[in-house]
Amino acid sequence: MNKKVKTIGVLTSGGDAPGMNAAIRAVVRTGTYHGLRVMGVKRGYNGLINGDLVEMDARSVSDILQRGGTILQTARCLEFKTAEGVKKAFDIAKVFGLDGLIVIGGDGSFRGAKDLCQIGLPTVAMPGTIDNDISCSEYTVGYDTCLNTVVSAVDKIRDTAASHDRCSVIEVMGRGAGYIAINAAIACGADVVLVPEYKWSFDDDVLRPILESKSRGKRHSIVIVAEGIGGVIDIAKEVEAKTGIESRATILGHVQRGGSPSVRDRVTASQMGAHAVELLIAGKSNRVVCMQGGQITDVEIEEGLAMKKQLPKEMLTLAKELAF
Ligand code: ADP
Ligand code: F6P
Repeated sequence: MNKKVKTIGVLTSGGDAPGMNAAIRAVVRTGTYHGLRVMGVKRGYNGLINGDLVEMDARSVSDILQRGGTILQTARCLEFKTAEGVKKAFDIAKVFGLDGLIVIGGDGSFRGAKDLCQIGLPTVAMPGTIDNDISCSEYTVGYDTCLNTVVSAVDKIRDTAASHDRCSVIEVMGRGAGYIAINAAIACGADVVLVPEYKWSFDDDVLRPILESKSRGKRHSIVIVAEGIGGVIDIAKEVEAKTGIESRATILGHVQRGGSPSVRDRVTASQMGAHAVELLIAGKSNRVVCMQGGQITDVEIEEGLAMKKQLPKEMLTLAKELAF
């Protein structure tokens, strides 16, 4: 054990995700198990800049494993994107005696973690975001719970779409990434899926499949649209105008970010949180905990940020073929 690490901090940053609490619990329990003092930083990087830190012990994370959201709360902190903000955060970390920090969030939060490392605070990041859009990791905490929420909502929408012979156009989250959309489309048997990673046209990718599926005897249809494409109200109007099929639009919104984490999110958050603490104890920092080949591992933050992850085109093809 690296004797230098006595006190560590933990924060959640960016959009919240189910399983963040499980990750906080894992950090606190692994830390205290190994004799570390653990401080919780409130509202992401804001808490560091404003000195809003709370002492945490094993009992302070009782009964949170199954809860959505984050007990530390989260935020997007613009001040931290400046060199002065990072310096302020570093100074406060020193005042509270932090020898290391664990950041739970997405790639923006990882950039902040890298900045803190560069200025001298050993920091480790782990992926907590519903989007599954972290290139160095096959999986991000929150994604599975989000998908299950989406699937159960789309199943319900299908019930009413079927009852009325309608077309339902549904927006799911994902500004720059279509992972939620494509997996929900396959899991719900959508007729059409639009993701920001691949070009689409209304006539070829929306109108034609709906008309063709109608001609094959389908009486209702489901169109899933990633948030990054948006415009579901207009798409529904255009479908109705050009096909005569009554259409409705639904924006699922923030329901996708809440709820009790699934088993997968609880277990992965627990593994990743514990791994992050072990890295700091071993004297390692500037690392992102990630999942590769189904195993929990870690890479250098910069290296992780530079990696590319491509939403497989075959999944779009599969969604199309299975909608036949
Ligand atoms: P996510 O971590 O989910 O990608 P954001 O992109 O909103 O979410 O980032 C969360 C926070 O991380 C931001 O509010 C900011 O405090 C910090 N951050 C984001 N980008 C950077 C950056 N390029 N440099 C330093 N800090 C950043
Ligand atoms: O990154 C998670 C996410 O939920 C995205 O899917 C979405 O685009 C964004 O956050 C919405 O953020 P907010 O509504 O919190 O600003």
